[in-house]
Amino acid sequence: MPLIVVASGKGGVTKTTTAYALGSALRELDAMPILVDLDPGASLTENAGLIADGTHARDLLEGRENVEALSGATVDGLPIVPGTVDLLNLSNDRADLLGYAQRLYDVSRERLLVIDTAQGLALAATRAALLAADYIVVPMQAEPAVIKRSYPDVLALLRVFLADPELRARFPINPELLFVLTKCNTRLGLTRHELERLAKDGVQVAAYVPAGVAAAECCLTGQSVVDYAPRSPVSAGYRDLARTIVASLNRAKLSLAAS
Ligand SMILES: Nc1ncnc2c1ncn2[C@@H]1O[C@H](COP(=O)(O)OP(=O)(O)O)[C@@H](O)[C@H]1O
Ligand SMILES: [Mg+2]
Repeated sequence: MPLIVVASGKGGVTKTTTAYALGSALRELDAMPILVDLDPGASLTENAGLIADGTHARDLLEGRENVEALSGATVDGLPIVPGTVDLLNLSNDRADLLGYAQRLYDVSRERLLVIDTAQGLALAATRAALLAADYIVVPMQAEPAVIKRSYPDVLALLRVFLADPELRARFPINPELLFVLTKCNTRLGLTRHELERLAKDGVQVAAYVPAGVAAAECCLTGQSVVDYAPRSPVSAGYRDLARTIVASLNRAKLSLAAS
């Protein structure tokens, strides 16, 4: 099973909404994931109506508990390992970072994980997740200021990892990057302009998620937008993303079977 990490160099770009919606959309396709909230702000945990009272994501990274024991459940029954402000106190030592990444990698061989990360790429938890990732989902909006900091920062960090022989020896560092355009309105000239620019830079958009009020108000019920408004165009966009991932997982399984 793979490790799916939702991350971006830019904050406020719909990472949490995307992680939660992707979790629900994967479950609809019988690929039940466990959500892991690696944001010290714990927005995913909060949006899902949970609180971290006791054990949480830090225990997972530090190997104190197994993922099943740590998982609570969202209102719609998706397992979730809660986030906590304590994630800010993780060590930044290289050996510890490698340990966190190894832990996430090992757990994700058994269970499909969808990880939500904090704003930016500086935290040890975020770096560990990106180091071990099989898929990196980068949500962004079709605005120059967002695009400039979203995927280029992720690519820059991956290049730093790849330039490090020890990291290369321990982790595949070959994630599939999935760019998702969210809150989008393809009738806007700016959107079309930015899409053309992305295409010129070789960035293929894996899914389009329109702007929609359901995405903003679903947190009031504790549900993901896919469960809150299953027939909305927003949910359709996230289902496209989930289908792309499941198709890629099936291809990987087939090539393993053939080899
Ligand atoms: N498709 C959408 N249409 C409109 N608003 C959205 C959409 N997706 C997310 N939002 C809103 O955008 C804001 C930022 O989203 P959030 O997922 O919290 O971003 P991040 O985790 O990157 O900080 C939230 O208020 C959320 O409700
Ligand atoms: Mg968030």
